[in-house]
Amino acid sequence: MILLASLLFYAGLGRCLAPSGDWDKFNFAPSSRIVTPVAIHSSHGQITNPENLVEARGQTTFSSSGSWLALDFGIEVGGLISLNIDSAPAGSALALSFTESSQFIRPTSSDDSSFPSENTTYDGILQVQTPLKTGLWEQPSASLRGGFRYLTLVSNSKSALTLSNVTCTISFMPHFPDLRAYTGYFSAKHPAFHDEDFLTKLWYAGGYTVQTNTVPLNTGRQVPFAHAGTWANNAALGVAGPIIVDGAKRDRAVWPGDMGIAVPTQFVSTNDLISTRNALATMFAHINPNGALPESGPPLSQQGSDTYHAWTLIGTHNYHHLTGDKEWVQSVWSNFTKAVTFLEQKVDETGLIDITGLRDWARLGGGGHNSEGNALFYEVLVTASDLAAQLDDIQQANRWSSKAISLKQRFNDAFWDEDAGQYKDNLTTTLHPQDANSLAVVFNLTDSHEKNRRISEGLQTNWNDLGPVPPELPDTISPFISGFELQAHFIAGEDKRAMDLLERTWGYMLYTNISVQSTLLEGFTANGSLSYRYYRGYNNDPAYTSHSHGWSSGPTSILTFYLLGLTVTSTRGQTWSFAPHLGTGVPAAEGGFETPLGRYDAAWSFDKDANGNDVFNVRISTPQGTQGIVKLPSNMMASYVRDGESKNVLLGGPAEMEVTGGRHDISWNIVTPLVE
Ligand SMILES: *[C@@H]1O[C@H](CO)[C@@H](O)[C@H](O)[C@H]1NC(C)=O
Ligand SMILES: *[C@@H]1O[C@H](CO)[C@@H](O)[C@H](O)[C@H]1NC(C)=O
Ligand SMILES: *[C@@H]1O[C@H](CO)[C@@H](O)[C@H](O)[C@H]1NC(C)=O
Ligand SMILES: *[C@@H]1O[C@H](CO)[C@@H](O)[C@H](O)[C@H]1NC(C)=O
Ligand SMILES: *[C@@H]1O[C@H](CO)[C@@H](O)[C@H](O)[C@H]1NC(C)=O
Ligand SMILES: *[C@@H]1O[C@H](CO)[C@@H](O)[C@H](O)[C@H]1NC(C)=O
Ligand SMILES: *[C@@H]1O[C@H](CO)[C@@H](O)[C@H](O)[C@H]1NC(C)=O
Repeated sequence: MILLASLLFYAGLGRCLAPSGDWDKFNFAPSSRIVTPVAIHSSHGQITNPENLVEARGQTTFSSSGSWLALDFGIEVGGLISLNIDSAPAGSALALSFTESSQFIRPTSSDDSSFPSENTTYDGILQVQTPLKTGLWEQPSASLRGGFRYLTLVSNSKSALTLSNVTCTISFMPHFPDLRAYTGYFSAKHPAFHDEDFLTKLWYAGGYTVQTNTVPLNTGRQVPFAHAGTWANNAALGVAGPIIVDGAKRDRAVWPGDMGIAVPTQFVSTNDLISTRNALATMFAHINPNGALPESGPPLSQQGSDTYHAWTLIGTHNYHHLTGDKEWVQSVWSNFTKAVTFLEQKVDETGLIDITGLRDWARLGGGGHNSEGNALFYEVLVTASDLAAQLDDIQQANRWSSKAISLKQRFNDAFWDEDAGQYKDNLTTTLHPQDANSLAVVFNLTDSHEKNRRISEGLQTNWNDLGPVPPELPDTISPFISGFELQAHFIAGEDKRAMDLLERTWGYMLYTNISVQSTLLEGFTANGSLSYRYYRGYNNDPAYTSHSHGWSSGPTSILTFYLLGLTVTSTRGQTWSFAPHLGTGVPAAEGGFETPLGRYDAAWSFDKDANGNDVFNVRISTPQGTQGIVKLPSNMMASYVRDGESKNVLLGGPAEMEVTGGRHDISWNIVTPLVE
């Protein structure tokens, strides 16, 4: 019975799939788990009919020793290669190399995943066992490559080696028979950008990125790392699979900070929160006796990060918020409270938390009375209080919430720099970090709208052509922290600035020819090179950078929650809000998602009515029994038609209305157009 129930779940029955439409063509997920190369990138040496390996059309013969062929799968994929060896003369040999970026297509090495090394060739190639046997060859599972776009075949045969039927069996999302079975969708045209479908493509690139990061339990990167010239992805990742990890190629381990961005993406795209529960459960199962949670899951099991500790706690609330899975929260509750206490004990006489577990998202500094750490601790208190209330532990809820209120006051007194209009990094510095300033707005630590506006403006002073260069990690662009910054600009009402950031940072990542143009880079240098973290742990190895990192997918949920404007405001979406951001220059948007209560869909557009007057049309459809609030700028309307019935509102009058679940069509007359 239990087996049947889980089979039904995994088969996707009972999920409310997204409506089909034009947007489907931007969904990067392949329609079959078995994929073939779609193009030849390049051919070197004597090779007959190389194009026959495209779409498994026929046979290709490698005639000169050292000849090599680079095949292009068109998008990021990950899994195990199989191919037919049709003829292999004595003494012949075959090797495979893999890479995400076309910059590292080489017959001598894959890009790096085992370890970062300045020579960029730590991983080496995968040698097919000799003597070659004719027939079907399948890549050994331990040599799984979790993320790549290009596969290079290298022949070392003096006479003809003939191959056919090169395929990759995708290993990620093992529980999804149909990788394209999204419950969410999004569509918007963006005429100002050089590709008007940029926003839609980006939304799906984020969704697909997180899919490639959702992996079977026993496919983690081995620790200690494989020796030079090899790689191994057969380590156990946690208590159960499938499980969400940080990246497709690497690290292939659970990282709770990354989940702060990746999980909202997962919610609005596939709503596959099982892999999130498995990841969080893994962290709680590995809690230390003193209450400290690990920074990452096994086999890495990195320790010593107060901020990632906080992210596991925040993530627990987020998981419950989206699923209502109270039973699971109860099962981890005693470890959860122990972990909150661990942070509470770090608050000293200053009234602030003293960060001593220094590991974090790669930023420099971060210790002591650090503002990012305190912002995260504030969010822990707020969300832990909400969870305690949901579990009917009112005393605990009140205790945490009153601590949160005092911390907010203290945070503003301690860190706000009125001259700069930003928060400082700690009590003794004049550095204004990207992370704490973005998070302070996102977590509502600011105590006025004016502060949000000034922070948004201040954050922009860090920008170059490709986006924000964080003062706390110079010469770098972090799409992870920039995801929070993007959200901060929308919250501040700076819609145009948010669009500008989207175009710079995510426009670059999605279109540059050094990326995989389908999933999102972990990070890059200020000038757009792949040498992310060259001076901070990655040993100046641009081949080590991951091209598919869920933490870079912020725009996917942000476009849904802010630009489209549809979001859930209480557990499982019992209440929701529709508050579109209309100052972006986008003329129309549409999208939706599901929760256990059903589907939530919305669409809006600026149109003309029958008399040629400007109108703003809205369609909202939400589950029966839910309650929502529709919020629109009040300067754009004088009257509206709601579900066929005309109503009047005074100019400047209430811009909010309460709406019950079901379908509503509302058409506003626009009297004063939005100010540019
Ligand atoms: C990317 O495009 C630029 C400009 O067209 C070209 O010089 C460069 O070689 C290309 N890089 C790759 C890795 O394809
Ligand atoms: C690359 O550097 C690593 C050390 O980081 C070394 O072990 C390896 O042998 C080098 N690879 C090549 C091909 O030289
Ligand atoms: C081609 O490869 C696929 C996937 O490995 C396999 O199922 C199929 O049997 C192969 N086809 C032929 C003709 O060998
Ligand atoms: C809670 O922590 C203990 C270690 O203190 C661990 O043995 C147990 O499995 C954890 N419980 C859960 C549900 O993760
Ligand atoms: C305070 O912040 C600065 C700038 O980030 C940093 O260099 C310094 O180490 C920090 N102080 C402590 C105690 O961590
Ligand atoms: C932000 O916090 C203030 C109290 O400091 C509260 O009144 C307000 O409702 C909060 N805003 C949101 C969006 O939660
Ligand atoms: C880009 O930045 C990196 C890191 O600072 C540097 O090594 C590289 O030379 C720069 N590339 C160009 C083209 O300026």
